[in-house]
Amino acid sequence: MNDTDQRCPTWPASQPPAGEGLAALAHRSRLLGADRRIVNIFGGNTSVKSIERDHLGRATPVLWVKASGSDLASIEPKHFAGLRLDDIEPLFARPTMSDEDMTAYLDRCAFEPGRPRQSIETLLHAFTPAPHVDHTHPDAIIAIACSPNGAALVQQVFGKRAAFVPYIRPGFDLSKQIGAAVRNNPDLECVVMGKHGLVTWGDTAAACYASTLRIIGEAEAFLAAKANPSPFGPTTITRVSAAERDTLLTQVLPVIRGAISQDRSMILSVDSSDDVLNFTTSAQCAALAMRGAACPDHLVHTKRVPLLLDWQPEHGADALITAATAGIARFVSDYRDYFQSHAQPGDTMAAPWPRIILIPGIGMVTTGSDAFAAEVSRQLYRRAIAVMRHADVVGGFETLDAAESFAIEYWPLELYKLSLKPPPKPLDGHVALITGAASGIGRAAAARLARDGAHVVIADRNADGSAEVAAALTARHGFHRAIATPMDVTSEAAVDAAFTAATLAYGGVDIVVNNAGISKSDPIEATSLADWQLMFDILATGYFLVARAAFRVLRRQACGGALVFVASKNAVAAGRNAGAYSAAKAAELHLARCLAEEGGGAGIRVNTVLPDAVLSGSSIWNSSWRADRAATYGIAETELEAHYRARTTLKVNVLPDDVAEAIAFFASAASRKTTGGVLTVDGGVPAAYVR
Ligand code: NAI
Repeated sequence: MNDTDQRCPTWPASQPPAGEGLAALAHRSRLLGADRRIVNIFGGNTSVKSIERDHLGRATPVLWVKASGSDLASIEPKHFAGLRLDDIEPLFARPTMSDEDMTAYLDRCAFEPGRPRQSIETLLHAFTPAPHVDHTHPDAIIAIACSPNGAALVQQVFGKRAAFVPYIRPGFDLSKQIGAAVRNNPDLECVVMGKHGLVTWGDTAAACYASTLRIIGEAEAFLAAKANPSPFGPTTITRVSAAERDTLLTQVLPVIRGAISQDRSMILSVDSSDDVLNFTTSAQCAALAMRGAACPDHLVHTKRVPLLLDWQPEHGADALITAATAGIARFVSDYRDYFQSHAQPGDTMAAPWPRIILIPGIGMVTTGSDAFAAEVSRQLYRRAIAVMRHADVVGGFETLDAAESFAIEYWPLELYKLSLKPPPKPLDGHVALITGAASGIGRAAAARLARDGAHVVIADRNADGSAEVAAALTARHGFHRAIATPMDVTSEAAVDAAFTAATLAYGGVDIVVNNAGISKSDPIEATSLADWQLMFDILATGYFLVARAAFRVLRRQACGGALVFVASKNAVAAGRNAGAYSAAKAAELHLARCLAEEGGGAGIRVNTVLPDAVLSGSSIWNSSWRADRAATYGIAETELEAHYRARTTLKVNVLPDDVAEAIAFFASAASRKTTGGVLTVDGGVPAAYVR
């Protein structure tokens, strides 16, 4: 995902599509979207007016305009709505129009069926007569537009080439004011919308793009000439070192995550960049941050104000936890007051938790229903900081008051964008750490839990395999949905480091699958002490270390959790020539049951899966275990699969996906009333029927 510091390329950047229609619009939009200083993630909209042939072959003027809910950075032609301009133009004569009437009317202007709903700001594009129109939220323009002297500054920077429209809520009236300003003044080059953004235009896609960049460049040059070397005033708080920061975050993030995950599990993201630290260590941070959102588009993703923790590095870790807990409680109470003061009949309060948490000297924590949502909040607040850094030179930072912020946050047209999200999945916002997930059962479990919405931490001593699995899951399920962290379960330090990595990446964990393993098969006389110890190191001690680290994080989060142990049929059924493995698996099973007792009071469930003979996809079965087991049964290695199938009651072979299904059951709320439980996934082996 592109972030904050990439600049717009020069036109045409890459081979632009032929013509001036929809393809050229998508191309221009992506170029603009590549620079977050110009276009907020999911913000802004662009359009082109072109002549198209309708279904009867008639030449029809069509407005192609960005649809609600897409992001310019990755937009494709299919993400634009097409509307009949001849149907829209008569609206300009109307004195006013409600949002509902406007939306219903525009829905009826669709040029072709099946396209997504047009942007809230469609009429702004329709009423601006130029063929190509851009509406953007550039940092430099917003800084001027949020100044108490916005109108005067616009005149100072652009003279008569710009019109300034004081803030009113987006919709018909604003669109009409902009359209009138442009229609009445042929020399105009842009419209600056107070506390909101910029409208620019051109006769061709290239000319429009050039005009947008030129206008923004002029605003940037104006601000740069006055730039203040300490834009946020003197630094009053010291930054903590990177190592100390990680230590503090590891302690406080699960506390924050637990506190805001009362209704649904949330994901956290951390930003400790210089830009953020300069802001959060400055004298003016509190005053600026509490003034409100830098742009109406931010509100549903950042809320009106962030939570600024009342803490400084010299106060230490315990005080940080206290500040986080008290700060969240205060934020929630303030948010309820805000809702009650402004709510209209029919409004339902959104989750009251903070989306942006500023920690002096440490950075910014953003929250979201998944990693992508937390990232959107992060990116938008970075934009807010970039806008606020000009506050001094433009004479202040003035934004929407609480009533108008509320009206935007609860505006049905804004909420519509959120409704476009896919339906929820059972493990949305959950974090699952799976040991041994580079292969076999662990890998299948990672895929299964990710499919149900979980963010997955692939913790395996096979670093390359882990990276490959994490990359595949992220490619399939989207932004930051899996990470790889190399970990040997026998190393206390490595296990703790893996949980730290998971906490720093997502804020904590909810599900821990203790699965890593190897197998050795030898008669007892031939079992070396080293092999005996190896089995116990990995399968017993390793499971203990992972479970202990899991409990520590889960207790800090204080919102329950699920541990799933992958033991084996051998944990309960005696077999020949696998004493060390089987005894270690039995220790593992008993540990799980003990921990179920220990964790129950805190809502931490611990359950065990007992697979058997999962040959396909398992590296264990590519090791000496295969030959040794074949020898034990006196058969050829190639006969093993049939041998195991034949000995099951159901006459089936067990696959990694079968075991993953059982793991998913224990990991999810489907088993919320079960702990200390055991589920066999062995096709039916009577000796392992659990009593
Ligand atoms: P696998 O060999 O395909 O996967 C095991 C993973 O654990 C590998 O990626 C390996 O790198 C990792 N691993 C091994 N030692 C580790 C360590 N010290 N630290 C971190 N990672 C380590 O094996 P499979 O079949 O997926 O086995 C998974 C679990 O299921 C094991 O605990 C195994 O005992 C158990 N099991 C497997 C059965 C089978 O037939 N495959 C049957 C019954 C239980």
